[in-house]
Amino acid sequence: MSSTPKQLHLGAFMRPVSIHTGAWRYPGAWRDANFNFERLKTLAQALERACFDAFFMADHLAVLNMPIESLQRSHTVSSFEPFTLLSALAQHTTRLGLVATASTTFDEPFHIARRFASLDHLSGGRAGWNIVTTSNPDAALNFGRSESMEHDERYARAREFYSVVTGLWDSWADDAFVRDAESGRFFDPARLHVLNHRGKYLSVRGPLHIARPVQGWPVIVQAGASEAGRQLAAETAEVVFSAPGTLENGRRFYTDIKSRMRVVGRNPDHLKILPGAFVVVGDTLEQARGIRSRLDSLVHEDSAIASLSIALGHDVSGFELDQPLPEIPPTNASQSSRERAIELGQRENLTVRQLAQRLGGYSGLAFVGTPESIADEMQLWLETGASDGFNVMFPWLPGGLLDFVNKVVPELQRRGIFRRAYQGNTLREHLGLPRPGNQFFAG
Ligand SMILES: Cc1cc2nc3c(=O)[nH]c(=O)nc-3n(C[C@H](O)[C@H](O)[C@H](O)COP(=O)(O)O)c2cc1C
Repeated sequence: MSSTPKQLHLGAFMRPVSIHTGAWRYPGAWRDANFNFERLKTLAQALERACFDAFFMADHLAVLNMPIESLQRSHTVSSFEPFTLLSALAQHTTRLGLVATASTTFDEPFHIARRFASLDHLSGGRAGWNIVTTSNPDAALNFGRSESMEHDERYARAREFYSVVTGLWDSWADDAFVRDAESGRFFDPARLHVLNHRGKYLSVRGPLHIARPVQGWPVIVQAGASEAGRQLAAETAEVVFSAPGTLENGRRFYTDIKSRMRVVGRNPDHLKILPGAFVVVGDTLEQARGIRSRLDSLVHEDSAIASLSIALGHDVSGFELDQPLPEIPPTNASQSSRERAIELGQRENLTVRQLAQRLGGYSGLAFVGTPESIADEMQLWLETGASDGFNVMFPWLPGGLLDFVNKVVPELQRRGIFRRAYQGNTLREHLGLPRPGNQFFAG
């Protein structure tokens, strides 16, 4: 008897249009795509035709913390505000999931609950919340603070923040709005819950003045990889972006998160792990490698050095560039990106300059090859317990995205590991996730 093979889930990681710093200089690139809605609409519709699970909109609350000499090289310096963009895209797509990034360190749970509930209603149940704790220390300067909260404290606040937001989404039972014109009663007060939350970091009365989201709760997404980040993911997330450099690390991360879920009493199938994968498609392996090295050569050295400084949370501009990286102590910035950078430098025996050039482009997991070799790698990750799919990063736009949807997706479909048509309407349905019950009302 033939059984259906495990299915891949695919997100498109848009930051704001490509993660690679050299992308905007690539021949044929849409240099104005950050603020050209028609372009973004075209890309979203191409992803929807290819049956992608979701469009993931990354977001930052300050320009990258690098000197202006480096910043001037980067097209990622500016982008649309995610909710505004995704609300507009919701009107030009019908199935594609729409995931917005929002910060638990600098935003308020009432605002976040409200915006995501609105996006979920507007899009017919396609919203997802990428919970970030914001590691860029400069964000504090845009919110009247002189310094950012300490790393683990950011995560403690995030945990409480999540409870408040989900509590606010459950303010109304699904049947609370009776709208009985005869009796003149719009809603049933017995089907309304007032949260009255008072905790260590937050104080929120409620209720939220928006009906319960179509999906019950928008899908919860998370990307932290430190000890505190993994624990938050195991307790709360339904999708995790991870950034493992190798298949071995991918398997270890996958096993770790799923076993933490069992410890906290969650079903491991209710969380999908989608590593970020930078995918470069060529008709031959040589052509794909050529595209990547062309792209990497378009990253200016100033920008490369600044990217390494950010990854390490430490200014490396004064270092001896042609020597290996010296010992770097941990800082308050992202812990996992520091460890990844140090590990890459040691594994490949790179000088500071070489390591910077890699990080300035994209240094994480990359599949560079033909549609067949890329599908082989994706299938290997899927079938050997290293991932449930990928959050695909395109090398440049529109070409890198179109090559993926026109060449790799059909190959995945031919192998029976990716859908040919959407089966459901909501993001939860695409991901095979249950609709959460209301914690305050049965049924
Ligand atoms: C694929 C991926 C996408 C991310 N997108 C964002 C983002 O849009 N905004 C943001 O502030 N942080 C983003 N992050 C950073 C994470 O939220 C987190 O801060 C980082 O992975 C470090 O985690 P740690 O502090 O637990 O080590 C992303 C991380 C990954 C791996």
